[in-house]
Amino acid sequence: MENRSQWGTRLGFLLAAMGSAIGLGNIWRFPATAYENGGGAFFLPYLFALLTAGIPLLIMEYTIGHKYRGSAPRSYSKVSKGMEWIGWWQVAISFIISTYYPIIIAWAIMYSYFSFGTQWGDDATSFFVGDYLQLAETPGTFGDMVPKVLFPLLAVWAMVFFFLGRGVKRGIEVANKIFIPALVVIFIIIVIRAVTLPGALEGLNTFFEPDWSRIMDGSVWVAAYGQIFFSLSIAFAIMITYSSYLPKKSDITNNAFITGFANSSFELLAGIGVFAAIGFMASQTDQAVSEVVDDGVGLAFMVFPEIISQMPASGLFGFLFFASLVLAGLSSMISISETYIAGLQEKFNISRGKAVAIGGGLAAIVSLFFANQGGLYLLDTVDYFINNYGVALAGLFEVVAIAWFAKSLKDLQAHADSVSDIKLGLWWRVCLGFITPVVLGYMMLQNLKTEVSRYYEDYPYEFLFNYGWVVAIGAMFAGALITIKKWPKNTNESE
Ligand code: PHE
Repeated sequence: MENRSQWGTRLGFLLAAMGSAIGLGNIWRFPATAYENGGGAFFLPYLFALLTAGIPLLIMEYTIGHKYRGSAPRSYSKVSKGMEWIGWWQVAISFIISTYYPIIIAWAIMYSYFSFGTQWGDDATSFFVGDYLQLAETPGTFGDMVPKVLFPLLAVWAMVFFFLGRGVKRGIEVANKIFIPALVVIFIIIVIRAVTLPGALEGLNTFFEPDWSRIMDGSVWVAAYGQIFFSLSIAFAIMITYSSYLPKKSDITNNAFITGFANSSFELLAGIGVFAAIGFMASQTDQAVSEVVDDGVGLAFMVFPEIISQMPASGLFGFLFFASLVLAGLSSMISISETYIAGLQEKFNISRGKAVAIGGGLAAIVSLFFANQGGLYLLDTVDYFINNYGVALAGLFEVVAIAWFAKSLKDLQAHADSVSDIKLGLWWRVCLGFITPVVLGYMMLQNLKTEVSRYYEDYPYEFLFNYGWVVAIGAMFAGALITIKKWPKNTNESE
């Protein structure tokens, strides 16, 4: 009685998993994180985190999805009844992320257009916050809708609805088969262009220069684990959902290694491209590389436009850069939305079409709150809290529940081994049962310590409370609330 949707090919699944993993985190988060945490020396903790937490967790999530063949909450509930809540909590987190992530894709769409004629002029920062976003003076005021954000946002949703509506094989798989190869080709062109610019070498030297004195610093290790988690889309309910569509005979462990290494390769490539471009900019403007480095929104929408302005044939390069953000973003956006589409379908026994209309529709409506003049503050705050006190915390609950309480690692190992070439050993259970929970627990304590020492971005406390803490803790409660409802007898598991 196997009528669950399935991937058409192994490559289809791999591209979809890579599409989820390779996102804005690779392009705008990794380069600056590596640079700030020891440059070349960061690769040691980074590789360690990849091998002791990233890939082991990916194997675990693939195994859970493949073995129990359900959305994250459904699969967890089969591992152990008490775990269903963690699944819905992760789904709620993913839902929240899917309400502001498309905003960034929308900006990138506009910027790929602004690139022609470098419409941001001499001062890219004031163009971004002023002319483009019309940012409100203070966090907490929302002002008017910004049409140049709203319209591309609607376009993003149209694409998301289209691909999700068509289902796993005909929608998600097709989208990733187009987006990911295109992304890789475009990105390689960007990197080749960047490394051949004058000054690029200086940027690369700065990036790779190892600062071994940092290696004993706990915060560097926390940064490495944090990057690996976010980058591999672990504890977002995504990888469980995607692997639940794998055919019965699929090599899980191998797939996890491939996904993990492909994602890290892309990250390295992005680091090279970004720092080569930064080196070029520094040399053109007589600044030190360290003065130009930035991450996140600042890197993509303030620093990069400046770099692009300085370049020959700037329009094309700018277009390609922002197009790569759009492609990387869309494939991640599709994956994160699929978590609640799958969950809703199973919990309420409704068709995919209905789940897309209800879940996606709701997310689209909420996303409008980020399309006004106060949107940037809101996005920044929700993103910070949902990552630190949503994803990371839910990840901690997930491994502890499985490794310590459900004690199901051995069962999962047996399942993975039964379908995979590479056999798991004691190392796998030690990584998940010991190393990962300890590091994540330590990370949580460090984060909380930071929280009491300052207000994030110096935003007013009330604002942080309402849109940071309430949202992060709200996700936990929302998860508990849905858990109360019972599963229907005949879960509708087909397209
Ligand atoms: N792995 C993604 C990234 O690097 C994380 C993510 C997935 C974010 C899905 C949002 C949605 O950007």
